[in-house]
Amino acid sequence: MSKPKSTSTSSDPVNKDTDPSSGQFSRRQLLTAGPALALAPSLSSLLLSGEVAAGVAPTDGRIPGHWSPTDPDRPPIDGPRGQDLWRRADKVMPSYAMFLTRSARYAGYNVLPGFISEAKGCRVKDVDGRSYIDFIGSAGPNLLGYRHAEIEAAARSQSDKGDLMPMFSPAMIEFSERLLDWTDGFDWALPLKRGSDATELAMRVARATTERPHVLMFKDSYHGSNREQSLLFEGTPGDALEHMSRIAWNDPEALDNFKTASGEQVAAILMSPLDQPGGNHPTHEASPAFIAAINRFRRRTGALVILDDVRAGFRLHPQGSHKAIGLEPDMLCLGKALGNGHATAALMGTAAVRGGAERILYASTYVYSAVCCRAGIATLDVYERDGAFASMQRAGKRLLSGIRKAAAQHGQDIHISGPATHPTMFYNNDPDSGLMERFCSEAARRGALFHPRIWSFMSAAHDDASIDEAIDIADKSFAAMAG
Ligand SMILES: Cc1ncc(COP(=O)(O)O)c(C=O)c1O
Repeated sequence: MSKPKSTSTSSDPVNKDTDPSSGQFSRRQLLTAGPALALAPSLSSLLLSGEVAAGVAPTDGRIPGHWSPTDPDRPPIDGPRGQDLWRRADKVMPSYAMFLTRSARYAGYNVLPGFISEAKGCRVKDVDGRSYIDFIGSAGPNLLGYRHAEIEAAARSQSDKGDLMPMFSPAMIEFSERLLDWTDGFDWALPLKRGSDATELAMRVARATTERPHVLMFKDSYHGSNREQSLLFEGTPGDALEHMSRIAWNDPEALDNFKTASGEQVAAILMSPLDQPGGNHPTHEASPAFIAAINRFRRRTGALVILDDVRAGFRLHPQGSHKAIGLEPDMLCLGKALGNGHATAALMGTAAVRGGAERILYASTYVYSAVCCRAGIATLDVYERDGAFASMQRAGKRLLSGIRKAAAQHGQDIHISGPATHPTMFYNNDPDSGLMERFCSEAARRGALFHPRIWSFMSAAHDDASIDEAIDIADKSFAAMAG
């Protein structure tokens, strides 16, 4: 993993007003450093380091744009159909880098199967017909099990009547009501399509409410694919990013001392409930001292707090992650798991920010999808009725205890962090993730999908039988690595 470059020089007049300790980026840094901007070596630098960023053409028959391989001798994992699809993908789509976690190439060279054609419960099938127990969970949406019968029936019954219609559907209103019934502390809810919609809109509402420009975030936190929330700045003009800063997670002092370089006032803190840089970095929970500093900051400055619960939502606490970390945010962003695989997201807000929300024009064609609202309602209903949170906790604990035991038996030095419902696993002393890639490759070839660079997501469909099967696969994979 290469270190991100810093382009800042003290003699550079364009940078002269940049206070490096503020976490704010100069216009020059933003324009020239691109995605390798001085963020810690996490998702951004993992993705864009090495051959992909440099655009180096492979010379040994590997597919162009491929992740730099840690093991070029690893045999193909894709069967003939998968290999054919890669050839076709490379002709018709820009580099896989655009698609991050869902491109198997992001996982490494021949580590994971490239194309999944079927999914049910916690099991998926690739285009060559091989089955896997899945812990990638589509990076979050698989909450209750792929193609859950009740969620699909609710979506189908709405789709039989109409999805996009000329005016609001009742489903939109019922979904907003259901969200407000699901958790307390909020006064309004808006159905959306993507997590990125929710975080972007929340920032706009905060700016409109406070009439201040600046948004404070934490280093390595990805909040969506839109320009300000992303860690990947290529293609974004520097001045689009002038009104944001990033500071260290779990650092109360940095918050207590924070001032923007330009003296701008802070409209909002945008934060996730967990610090999850990805790759070889553990997940950190928010310390009580950090949450106390956030509350001090909002009292001192009048800044709002936006909790981005798009990734961890429904896996930290059954009524939203703010309940798990003891924070009362002004806005809550939801997505991913909320529709159990349907394109469903939402922004919830308090009465204090309703006025700001009412001044914003937010029109987007497919936001009004009644099918997605029905999927959201059904997901909340089944999640609560079935105690899905407790099932995921049980399954996660069983899996992690089995994996820890198997790793110890075979002398594998693994590191596990984060909640059992959404754990992070990597190898200690594995700077290029070669060992973790090898483990994931061994596990995939035996029928279980873990991702070497991102977190696992448990679902309520992971029953004891699937977990025990996965532990057996992990055991055999560790044995192969030890042997
Ligand atoms: C924490 C977080 N926020 C926001 C987003 C953006 O969600 P979406 O990809 O649905 O736009 C993501 C997506 O990975 C995320 O992980």
